[in-house]
Amino acid sequence: MADGGAARTAARDGSPYPDRRDPAFERDVRRMFAHIAARYEWFDHVASVGNDLLWRPRALWALDRFRAPGPVRRVLDLGCGTGELTRLTARHFPDAEVVGVDFTAAMLAVARRRTPAGPTTVGYGRATALRLPFSDGAFDVATNAFLVRNLADLDAALGEMRRVLRPGGVLLILEITEPTSSAVASLFHAYFDHVVPWLGAAVDSAGPYRYLPESLRRLPPRPAFRDALRRAGFGRVDLVPQSMGIVTTFLAEAGAPDRRG
Ligand SMILES: C[S@@+](CC[C@H](N)C(=O)[O-])C[C@H]1O[C@@H](n2cnc3c(N)ncnc32)[C@H](O)[C@@H]1O
Repeated sequence: MADGGAARTAARDGSPYPDRRDPAFERDVRRMFAHIAARYEWFDHVASVGNDLLWRPRALWALDRFRAPGPVRRVLDLGCGTGELTRLTARHFPDAEVVGVDFTAAMLAVARRRTPAGPTTVGYGRATALRLPFSDGAFDVATNAFLVRNLADLDAALGEMRRVLRPGGVLLILEITEPTSSAVASLFHAYFDHVVPWLGAAVDSAGPYRYLPESLRRLPPRPAFRDALRRAGFGRVDLVPQSMGIVTTFLAEAGAPDRRG
């Protein structure tokens, strides 16, 4: 995204196009997800050529390898959107209470519709990742998929994720990342910069799908992301790339709470 100039909030077709330079960035991210909520899952499967259906379960298997054995009683899925990862997580931890949280009401409405009442306990609530309405240490596991590149303040959100985990609890972040090979990276950028916005424009969503490749460039590179997790109070950290690094699962164990000041 070019710096300077007036911030914009909509694309030519009128669809929301959030701009980080605008103080109303968070509001526009919410508007954008409200705009695409009904088609979100379908578009995701098309744009990722079905790969997103593998990425989430594989991330949960990586979590199993990473975490110390022990019961999982409460799980938070942050930026749960339409609840794809929330539902998988509930099946993965059938004895746990799973809470999906998102700040876009329209995404939560789809999540509630698609989540059958069943043997697992799944609940949804509306909140921003920057100020979570949960007490310290309330969860054993916190997950989020494709959330972090949309955050106005990554450090504040990681701090909140750490705060609501018990010491020894585990955070799983799944996000689109820069591919590990430069040849794949060139194809990746060509695809996200040209093909995805074209697909988006075809479904009256030019803004959201031009914002997507911009948001990918905002995410810190893997080593800086690892440092951000450590600063937020996580000790053991592991990074597990999938699909040649097109996505990465970041796993982090909550350290002892920082009692200074
Ligand atoms: C790309 S979607 C991912 C949805 C889901 N996790 C998945 O796996 O498909 C990102 C979601 O994060 C939510 N979101 C973005 N920023 C947020 C924030 N600051 N607080 C809470 N939710 C946020 C959006 O409303 C949207 O539903």
